[in-house]
Amino acid sequence: MSIRIAVPKEREQHEKRVALTPEVAGKLVQKGFEVWVESGAGEKAYFSDEVYIQAGCKIEKDPKKLLGNGQIVLKIQPISPEEIEFMADSTMLVGFLFAHRHPEQVKRLFDKKITVFPMEKIPRVTRAQSMDALSSQSTVTGYKAVLMAADLSSRFFPMLTTAAGTIRPAKVLVLGAGVAGLQAIATAKRLGAIVEAYDVRPAVKEQVMSLGAKFLEIAVDAEAKGGYARELTPEEKKKEQEMLLEHVAAADVVITTAQIPGRDAPKLLPKEMVLKMKPGSVVIDLAAEGGGNCVLTEPGKMVTIDGIKIYGPLNVPAHLPVHASEMYAKNLFHFLMLLTHDGKSLELDLSDEIIRGTLLQEGGK
Ligand code: NAI
Repeated sequence: MSIRIAVPKEREQHEKRVALTPEVAGKLVQKGFEVWVESGAGEKAYFSDEVYIQAGCKIEKDPKKLLGNGQIVLKIQPISPEEIEFMADSTMLVGFLFAHRHPEQVKRLFDKKITVFPMEKIPRVTRAQSMDALSSQSTVTGYKAVLMAADLSSRFFPMLTTAAGTIRPAKVLVLGAGVAGLQAIATAKRLGAIVEAYDVRPAVKEQVMSLGAKFLEIAVDAEAKGGYARELTPEEKKKEQEMLLEHVAAADVVITTAQIPGRDAPKLLPKEMVLKMKPGSVVIDLAAEGGGNCVLTEPGKMVTIDGIKIYGPLNVPAHLPVHASEMYAKNLFHFLMLLTHDGKSLELDLSDEIIRGTLLQEGGK
């Protein structure tokens, strides 16, 4: 018997992505899975029901039936309590969950003995790179943030030599050079800006420089477990603020991406610092979902103070639904290949560090 996969429509407001694209769903069908997709699930990412049918999927209109029949449910957004009720007991859920923010769902999933693999828990190890959904979606975020900044900016990004005079290139400062930050640097460079970047992990210096940006440092190494950053001490924070002041003041655009796992986003931009920027400058705060790197950020909104625009967009990957879905679906595909054998049997090899590292709960344990 083939394993039945169910892909419900994402119902979160503003969500446009879908967990499986027709291309990847078709590959799963070829591997022996049965793929059921809720009618309209791919609509906002421009994948029609017909294209899923052509790829060998089956379409179900009723979300209750769809979820009730699935042995593996594939999601992007954290599952809702209602969706959990529709799921059959002792099945499997794979998707972003952020368990600490959704204790009610975790409890219900546990009660229903549903095995849960939160995609944000895929270990950041080389062998898991093709499954790393945090990285794939951060790539989208970093790229799109620069386009948002360019759109809001009152100035050109590239240097232009025209009959009407020479325009100097924009100065873009990227704070936090993880996956999103590096993609933001690369995109801003492609648009012709002069780019500076800062991170508390000196290990990223080489990557920043190889993208053609200048790396700003404060002689602190805050790299912690797993390649992530730790919180800075008060003295280190003071150094950081002193160093950043002149660079923020000179920037036309600041893009902030700094995160510390399990904590609120570090506050890098106090009000006084932002007010040193020129009128017409832009701050894009990609840490808005975690409270923001700028104290003036209002998640999901644009705030303008003294002509400086501060925008904290939410769910940025949904702004580029085709490629964000494509990348996420491929991450799922590679993870499913690890979890299953020929689309028919599901035996979890808990000695595998990726499976063990991602697993939140298995059948009520
Ligand atoms: P993240 O989203 O947790 O943080 C973004 C960036 O903010 C990080 O580079 C962090 O150092 C920086 N940051 C934290 N506090 C800061 C502060 N006060 N000022 C400036 N910057 C600050 O990180 P992300 O992008 O999810 O990845 C972090 C790292 O994980 C990667 O750079 C890499 O080392 C590792 N990684 C490894 C992978 C692999 O080997 N498969 C795949 C992806 C990531």
